[in-house]
Amino acid sequence: MAAERTLSIIKPDAVAKNVIGEIYRRFENADLRIVGARMVHLSREEAEKFYAVHSERPFFNALVEFMISGPVMVQVLEGENAIAKNRDLMGATNPKEAEAGTIRGDFAESIDANAVHGSDGEDTAAAEIDFFFGQGGICPR
Ligand code: PPS
Repeated sequence: MAAERTLSIIKPDAVAKNVIGEIYRRFENADLRIVGARMVHLSREEAEKFYAVHSERPFFNALVEFMISGPVMVQVLEGENAIAKNRDLMGATNPKEAEAGTIRGDFAESIDANAVHGSDGEDTAAAEIDFFFGQGGICPR
């Protein structure tokens, strides 16, 4: 079976905390390989496009404001069951419900500043990888 790929974003709060390396270590310890990476400060237009699926939700504006508040680190993770494995490493969306030892449990402060994003399914992963790496920048398989 071909290794699966997923998109991960280390959000502005975790970048500001200087824990990119600590989070990368967790990916690597879980046998996820970083096969593409870039740091980017999203524009409002880019953030609104990336989160368009949530545009009708009450927190949409807060989410966009937060995601453009500073640089983010974006990476493609590759490995067996990469999508589910990354979601397990991330922990629950609300850090108050996230277990200790998960990224959000250890580094996130609140539901609106929750350290990481990870694709939630195969179709989303393909679309999100294309969003950030459609022009190239990923290791060939
Ligand atoms: S998830 O992770 O997609 O299953 O969770 P969901 O509840 O659908 O949330 C979608 C994204 O919105 C973020 N979110 C919020 N941001 C700000 N304020 C509030 N209250 C809030 N609730 C949820 C959540 O972190 C998800 O962002 P990503 O970047 O996809 O993790």
